[in-house]
Amino acid sequence: MNIKEFCDKYSIDRLGTNSLKWDALDKRYGDKRLIAMWVADMEFKTPQAVIEAMKKRIEHGIFGYSYVPMSYYDAFINWEKNEHNYEVNKEWIRFSTGVVIALYWFVNAFTKPDDSVIIITPVYYPFHNAVKDNGRKLITSELINTDGVYTIDFDNFEKNIIENNVKLFIQCSPHNPVGRVWTEKELDKLLSICKKHNVLVVSDEIHQDIIVGKNIQFPAAIVSGGKYADNLITVTAPSKTFNLAGLLNSQIIISNEKIMAKYDAYAKTVNKTEVNIMGLTAAEAAYNHGKEWLNSLLDVIRYNYNYLKTNLNEKAPKIIITPLEGTYLAWLDLRGYVDPKDTKTFIQDKCRLAVDLGEIFSENCKGFVRLNMATDPKYVEMAVYNIIRNITLLENSEFEH
Ligand SMILES: Cc1ncc(COP(=O)(O)O)c(C=O)c1O
Repeated sequence: MNIKEFCDKYSIDRLGTNSLKWDALDKRYGDKRLIAMWVADMEFKTPQAVIEAMKKRIEHGIFGYSYVPMSYYDAFINWEKNEHNYEVNKEWIRFSTGVVIALYWFVNAFTKPDDSVIIITPVYYPFHNAVKDNGRKLITSELINTDGVYTIDFDNFEKNIIENNVKLFIQCSPHNPVGRVWTEKELDKLLSICKKHNVLVVSDEIHQDIIVGKNIQFPAAIVSGGKYADNLITVTAPSKTFNLAGLLNSQIIISNEKIMAKYDAYAKTVNKTEVNIMGLTAAEAAYNHGKEWLNSLLDVIRYNYNYLKTNLNEKAPKIIITPLEGTYLAWLDLRGYVDPKDTKTFIQDKCRLAVDLGEIFSENCKGFVRLNMATDPKYVEMAVYNIIRNITLLENSEFEH
């Protein structure tokens, strides 16, 4: 399907559907007439095969307690093997009602109050919260930003681990919000530092299927021939890939038996929920039949990102746009035009966009914004138009002063 065919078939107006992204604008931004480009879900219906599978399940009319069928494991295991060259054993898999709740569990299960947990910032803000809300010490290692291209400061990462006796590292791979798909070499270096200092790694790979640049996505578990799999918990989900976040279904993968035993013992105390029957139905169909849909989606994301980049580069060249290798989240540095303290006024009140502001990902990122590109190109066109128009107005007014 080309971009137009995909949008004609799957793009949909979400207003009036209790959508957090669109219908909670008033509550969250104090203005319900903004273009919603914030939270990471999409304006695209899930693949038709998923809708059909769910309809079939609904028509049966029974929604009693269920278990995870072998066909689900097969679908997920095949997906990981075919898409990521990662061979997962059924025994290594557990379930959670979302990735964020699982991060909270890991912090509790594998660290003690006041232990240090490290994250690499700027990063998805629930990573910060999972540590702070649980009374652990949050240690951050800031990425190096070279003209919008982000790399890991390995020396700082290791120094912070040693100085703070860090017990756990929560990794984001691909990295939200800076769109990096880490290379095997980078991952090897990161994971080897963790291994050397006995730091357990939680690798959040929820964006693993949204790869839009040239880098190959390496599950942490297969880096350097699987050398670090024993010191690792991986979390992943079909929710970003197939727009299923509201169905609350995600996977935890642990291949080390001791870590699994510890996890299972902890999970007994917090996770008494059976699996969600609709979430499983949807995810199984998506893993089995969603590949073609995903390919078209990736084309739309690339198209939207390139449109944004080309037009802003031409008309507002002082905006620094980070290269998008993975995720569907564009990361923009507006500081070339806008005083960081005025970012919200500029992007929200002037440009009419509801976005995530940089400072929620790192206190050093005031003046940055994150824009969701998994949307109908018409919204990206409006956003680009509004940004350029307001930059021009800003420049002219400064010129007049
Ligand atoms: C890195 C990362 N982890 C987790 C989530 C959310 O996961 P869930 O909705 O399954 O809790 C997101 C959503 O944007 C994310 O970017």
